[in-house]
Amino acid sequence: MKELKIGQEEWSTYNRNNIHLEGNAIVREGTILLGLNGEIHIGENTVITQHCHIDGPTTIGKGCIIGPHTVMVTHDHDYDNTSGMIHNSPGPVKPIKIGNNCYIGAGVTIIQGVTIGESSVIGAGSLVTRDIPSGVVAYGNPCRVKRKRGERDDQSATD
Ligand SMILES: CC(C)(COP(=O)(O)OP(=O)(O)OC[C@H]1O[C@@H](n2cnc3c(N)ncnc32)[C@H](O)[C@@H]1OP(=O)(O)O)[C@@H](O)C(=O)NCCC(=O)NCCS
Repeated sequence: MKELKIGQEEWSTYNRNNIHLEGNAIVREGTILLGLNGEIHIGENTVITQHCHIDGPTTIGKGCIIGPHTVMVTHDHDYDNTSGMIHNSPGPVKPIKIGNNCYIGAGVTIIQGVTIGESSVIGAGSLVTRDIPSGVVAYGNPCRVKRKRGERDDQSATD
């Protein structure tokens, strides 16, 4: 596990005890790891690039790339409770899981409870609200599986 040095590293965290980086995992500058409500685990050889935000319980496997400005939010607010301020109505916390060898593009948002299977690719700008299986290319808002990774069904895509 890598020792955190808040204020001396390029990245910041609220609860250092909940942040665990394995091996030579890298977190680049501007990324915020809050560690609220549970632990954040980042697998060896994974790179979290610049200006990402991960709030709570999240497990990212080995050898992943997380593109810049990607957001992972693991909690919600109780928006159907119409009495009082939404700020005082916490909702459920649901962990996010990302398998080994995934490539998450730039500016992706992943919401609470989502699991992304091993070796999958999530296109830039996607909003991931449902689980994504292993070994696929998925993108869009909402994010949907488009094809298996390594398989193309049309010639135009390779032109
Ligand atoms: C999604 C991605 C992996 C390409 O997947 P692909 O299956 O090879 O898709 P193609 O390039 O063949 O494009 C197929 C269609 O999807 C569209 N498309 C491609 N990427 C898209 C995305 N992220 N969101 C929405 N639509 C996308 C294309 O415009 C094309 O549609 P069109 O024919 O109507 O123009 C790639 O576009 C991408 O987003 N890569 C991530 C880049 C990135 O974030 N880099 C940061 C590195 S840290």
